[in-house]
Amino acid sequence: MRDYRAWHNDYDDPQSSLSQRLAVVQRRLGERLSAMPPGPIQIISMCAGQGRDVIPVLQQHLRAPDTRAALLEIDPRNVALARRAIAASGLTGVTAIETDASISDAYAAWVPADIVLACGIFGNISDADLERTVRSLSMLCRQGAAVIWTRHWKQPEMIVAIRHWFQESGFLDLGFDPLDNERKMGIGVVSLTGAPLPFKPGLRFFTFLR
Ligand SMILES: C[S@@+](CC[C@H](N)C(=O)[O-])C[C@H]1O[C@@H](n2cnc3c(N)ncnc32)[C@H](O)[C@@H]1O
Repeated sequence: MRDYRAWHNDYDDPQSSLSQRLAVVQRRLGERLSAMPPGPIQIISMCAGQGRDVIPVLQQHLRAPDTRAALLEIDPRNVALARRAIAASGLTGVTAIETDASISDAYAAWVPADIVLACGIFGNISDADLERTVRSLSMLCRQGAAVIWTRHWKQPEMIVAIRHWFQESGFLDLGFDPLDNERKMGIGVVSLTGAPLPFKPGLRFFTFLR
């Protein structure tokens, strides 16, 4: 697999495609948090990396005291950096977990979520895994939950397909931002208006190809 600690270095350049994507992910996450009804909020970040999206947003958000966030990540170096950022942030409801987030069991303690982040996954898995993941994602969600997802739009037909699979799975499409940058990154948001699938243990969502 790729060196996913080094992958994060592009975030250090504020002009990079990745930083541009991060800014939109953070904005969308802030908006979804603001839209949540009063009461506890559960966030799940799948393949969370170093938590660069969730941690800074929560640090500045009024709903942080209501929010529990689970950052699921397989690379221990990224988990360590996420934990360091959490400690520095003073946030008490955010946990970085070293686990294989490709299997549904990893989520058992954190479902149902109000906000799911699937960022940096959909461009790294096979089309068949991508379709299965999208069609299964509602099992991690509460009705009304939002999913924030990313994928490059070098193959626009795949973006059309992803949005279609979400809609067929009970999600309302809230939009897709195709950033016109070097890596053609895009950010989508959907909201679960239909009924979630029941949580199914032992399901493999995807395998990272690189
Ligand atoms: C492209 S990065 C995205 C990181 C983060 N979501 C972001 O957008 O900044 C993909 C991340 O997925 C992690 N990853 C890959 N396979 C995984 C698995 N099976 N379970 C959990 N994390 C995984 C990698 O270590 C890496 O940190």
